[in-house]
Amino acid sequence: SQIPVITIDGPTASGKGTVAHRVADKLGFHYLDSGALYRLTALSALRRGTDLADEHALAKLAEHLQCSFQGGDIILSQENVSDAIRAEEVGNTASRIATFPAVRHALVGLQLGFRKAPGLVADGRDMGSVIFPHAPLKVFLTASVAARAGRRYKQLIDKGFSANMEDLLKDLQARDDRDTNRAIAPLVPAEGAQVLDTSEMNADEAVDQVLQWYAAIA
Ligand code: C5P
Repeated sequence: SQIPVITIDGPTASGKGTVAHRVADKLGFHYLDSGALYRLTALSALRRGTDLADEHALAKLAEHLQCSFQGGDIILSQENVSDAIRAEEVGNTASRIATFPAVRHALVGLQLGFRKAPGLVADGRDMGSVIFPHAPLKVFLTASVAARAGRRYKQLIDKGFSANMEDLLKDLQARDDRDTNRAIAPLVPAEGAQVLDTSEMNADEAVDQVLQWYAAIA
């Protein structure tokens, strides 16, 4: 029998990371943060000074990523880069290099490898549309730009960073545009995906809804 996969896709700052993580915990499933793979490739490229327009060189980097996920930590060539990959510059670079077909292709095998018993929750942009098209449950988690900017603002302030609401809104919009309008694996709800708008919902409510959908088909 097939190992079950729940895909959770959606735009940046939609809360899908938190929701996917908690759903995985509740079900005792593995968790794939596919965005982290694009971020790791970006970080690698930035550190090596790889030409960010050189699709072939970037794909090679992606293909040979020496990374592992240990507990909550993300390790790149034996260094804990959990915080480093969350930097704004790394996120922006990730979203640029994610437009290259060769880079996306290079990361496919690595992503498929996360499907292990008893199951997987996979979070990203194209988990349901491209990587796991036959997943029994696909969720498209979204929220208004205002709600997402508000959440990000609060996160930053809570961490002691300064934040500017207007900049955050502009940034989210730019990232949305790039992810939605790219030629390959654009951010769109996968065929058969359940759409969950969390603008007026907290994380626990979103988790409960996903678990209910899963219980109905499991
Ligand atoms: O989700 P996260 O912000 O960590 O992803 C970083 C970038 O990687 C996104 O802006 C997106 O462009 C890209 N990405 C992607 N496909 C995925 C996951 C992330 O293109 N499955």
